[in-house]
Amino acid sequence: MKSLVFLFLSSLIASSAIVEEFSRQPYVQLATDNSIRVVWRSRNEMTPKVVFGTTVDDLSSEVPAEQIITRKHPSLGEENPIFKDAPVDTRQFEATVTGLKPLTSYYYAIYDGDKRLTPADSSYRFKTNPVPGSDTPVYFWVVGDSGTGGKAQAQVHTAMVEHTAKNGRPIDLYLHVGDMAYGSGTNKEFSDRFFKMYEPTLRNTVCWGSMGNHEGRTSKGATGIGPFYDAFISPTKAEAGGLPSGKEAFYSFDWGKVHFICLDSHDLDRRPTGEMAQWLKADLEKTKAEFLIAFFHHPPYTKGSHDSDREGQLVEMREHIMPILESGGVDLVFTGHSHIYERSMLIDGAYQTPSVAKGVILDDGDGDPAGDGAYRKSEGLKPNNGHVSIVTGHGGTANRRSGTHPVMRKIILDHGSCLITIADDTIKGEMLNSNGVIRDTFAIKKSGEVTHTVVENPWQPEPLRRAQPQAGPKPPRNATVIIDKNETWSYLAGSHPSGDITDWAAPDYDISAWKTGKAGFGYGDNDDTTEINMRGKFTTVYIRKEFQLPKNANLDKLGLHVSYDDAFIAYLNGHEVHRQGVDKKQGKEADGFTNHDAKGFEYFPLKGISKILKPGQKNVLAIEGHNVNINSSDFTLHPRLLLAK
Ligand SMILES: [Fe+2]
Repeated sequence: MKSLVFLFLSSLIASSAIVEEFSRQPYVQLATDNSIRVVWRSRNEMTPKVVFGTTVDDLSSEVPAEQIITRKHPSLGEENPIFKDAPVDTRQFEATVTGLKPLTSYYYAIYDGDKRLTPADSSYRFKTNPVPGSDTPVYFWVVGDSGTGGKAQAQVHTAMVEHTAKNGRPIDLYLHVGDMAYGSGTNKEFSDRFFKMYEPTLRNTVCWGSMGNHEGRTSKGATGIGPFYDAFISPTKAEAGGLPSGKEAFYSFDWGKVHFICLDSHDLDRRPTGEMAQWLKADLEKTKAEFLIAFFHHPPYTKGSHDSDREGQLVEMREHIMPILESGGVDLVFTGHSHIYERSMLIDGAYQTPSVAKGVILDDGDGDPAGDGAYRKSEGLKPNNGHVSIVTGHGGTANRRSGTHPVMRKIILDHGSCLITIADDTIKGEMLNSNGVIRDTFAIKKSGEVTHTVVENPWQPEPLRRAQPQAGPKPPRNATVIIDKNETWSYLAGSHPSGDITDWAAPDYDISAWKTGKAGFGYGDNDDTTEINMRGKFTTVYIRKEFQLPKNANLDKLGLHVSYDDAFIAYLNGHEVHRQGVDKKQGKEADGFTNHDAKGFEYFPLKGISKILKPGQKNVLAIEGHNVNINSSDFTLHPRLLLAK
């Protein structure tokens, strides 16, 4: 009993020590069959030391000091600094652990001199890759567009952790297809929205990253400089197999019989003559792998929150890069960017713009072993033998579908991620949603020689049935307009008002520092007079306006006529009088939002307000508008105030 209590207490002490010592908890990167990197950050001076061993209790090997590099802020004149947006006292430690055996689990601990910082906990471990070419089953996780730091992202991660724990099979590696740190991939956004969120997984599993457009706001593929390139240590010299790329922006690695290729679809030349495409061709010529997986951010096929027929990066990845990947025999292509799950049939040669189903579908079944059966391919990497494209941009931000892509077999609007197994001659893919439910299963069996002919009249997905725009209740006829459309309001955007949570709605609140602008307020949809650049930055806007009521007004006849996206709470003279799409609380504490598109003005009569209002005097209407998600494509708040007869 005594020892149990001691263990419990010591683990508590150790956990709190971690929080204090590390500004970024330890994580692993760049696994090979004989080495790995252990990376962490601290804002304290430290004499870094990493010890490791094959059992938790015997960490008798030590990484030599010269194999641990310390990277600091550029203002400190270091040769290989971290990006300048980190706090000046930040130190990034990168330890290269070498001399390891292939496909072996090791446990590790981090010390500052003689002081142990990480607890004696079996979750501080890593596993080396198998020898390239060896026949070892692999199980991996793929996530995209997750970096909000919000509830859905956490649920998607937890669903994977619980699912793999239940099945007793941890993942071997993790691919992230980009947009992991909204809105601009800064140091702080990486810490809060990537590292904190995935910490229990990152400490023992290598995440291989491809850069999204949001990280691209601060990190540049051409130079390899920025918070993304500090966070990820990617191979440039074929450290884990493949062909040296010379750049962290695109690279390949081997895991047993599988060759993985990461591309930068965001800010590099995507043409066949470009450096990336030339490297890709040479890398594919060299590989002897039996399975080929590619991943990058911008999808060649999608009608989710983005349209691959209309956007340059997506069109170019399809027209220029897909022919190279397919002639190299690619099996699966993972992308994100579009906030949806879309999984294709077995396709080949779908390069034209706009995309069509004709002539490109080699198997129009569902690929489910329990349904139409697994897709079939030849063994090895046979050119143009069909591949499955998967958009997995549903890892945490608001999902959206804009249409129906004709090569897709499954189109699912749900938060989730992908879990892929490759064993023997078969790839099996699953989409696990944020509640832990598998919503799609497909497989590709690669054996013998398989020759496909194009399916003449392939199965086609159901067209998107658009909900008819329905404006809500109509306002009463002949109402007196108290506040009309496009009137000037005071507004506060980008911060929360000072004082208690609803002080700002009271008539005497000091708004001298607020801005003024004409309603409506918002962005996206081209329906806002005062454009507020809030995407990726904040979700709440506060507006206020004084008004007078006629002396003889019937105060029970006042109503709000408002165009809104997504939710709001209205106050009269500091008292809440109506809320729409907000479950709980107010202001910065408000929670539980319902998605709502502005489909015109909707009318909400206000009840029980006669004691609040002062006819013939100054009254104040105050409204807080909320966006359901920081990366939502639009926001609108445009109120009118009407007095019915
Ligand atoms: Fe994106």
